[in-house]
Amino acid sequence: MGSILIPSQKKYLESFLHEDDPLIIEMEKYANEHNIPILLRDSAELLEQLICLVKPKRVLEIGTAIAYSSIRIARNLKKKGIVHTIEKSKDNIVLAKENIAKSGLEGKINLIEGNALEELPRLDKKFDFIFLDADKTDYKRLFDYSLILLKKGGIIFVDNLLWHGLAASSRIPKVKKNSVKIIREFNAAFTSQPNLKTTILPVGDGIGIGIKI
Ligand SMILES: C[S@@+](CC[C@H](N)C(=O)[O-])C[C@H]1O[C@@H](n2cnc3c(N)ncnc32)[C@H](O)[C@@H]1O
Repeated sequence: MGSILIPSQKKYLESFLHEDDPLIIEMEKYANEHNIPILLRDSAELLEQLICLVKPKRVLEIGTAIAYSSIRIARNLKKKGIVHTIEKSKDNIVLAKENIAKSGLEGKINLIEGNALEELPRLDKKFDFIFLDADKTDYKRLFDYSLILLKKGGIIFVDNLLWHGLAASSRIPKVKKNSVKIIREFNAAFTSQPNLKTTILPVGDGIGIGIKI
């Protein structure tokens, strides 16, 4: 599985990505060394820009992993903003807690431990911004529930819609056939939602952005 950009373009654009926060750099290194999937830097920068633009008070993240994106969201929230983030992996919860403590943003990040399929129905208040980044087999159900929890005018941000280039490829390795089918079906459902204004951007691994209308 490769990049969705040709290598020279990828390298050129990456030369403009700057990050000064040692914790963010340490987390990127850790994720890379331990094979933990986190947002690619360009996608994370887009996410941060949208957070700055929208100034959401309530953000929901589905799929915390080590809290890399949670911290990147939280550091851009205004005074009253908070991100609620859901994670089901016990190992990742331990790492997320450590990183959140190191970031000093404990007051802005509420880590919900559990399976989002069970946790989402327990949430009663709506959200201004939802970031969906969980298991692809759960995507469609989590997306449907997210739409209920998203305020009118709110934004849903979804990662991996190009699925490492495989979503648009005609040559799919046998082991990837099922996940590619899931992503393709998801993309069709995402872009045909009557109450969402959507686009899929060729950023990172393919970012879906939907505005609830
Ligand atoms: C791609 S990683 C999240 C990366 C993170 N958003 C970032 O960019 O830093 C996906 C995470 O979602 C978690 N996850 C997957 N399905 C889930 C579900 N149904 N409920 C809660 N967590 C889930 C996995 O355990 C994994 O840690």
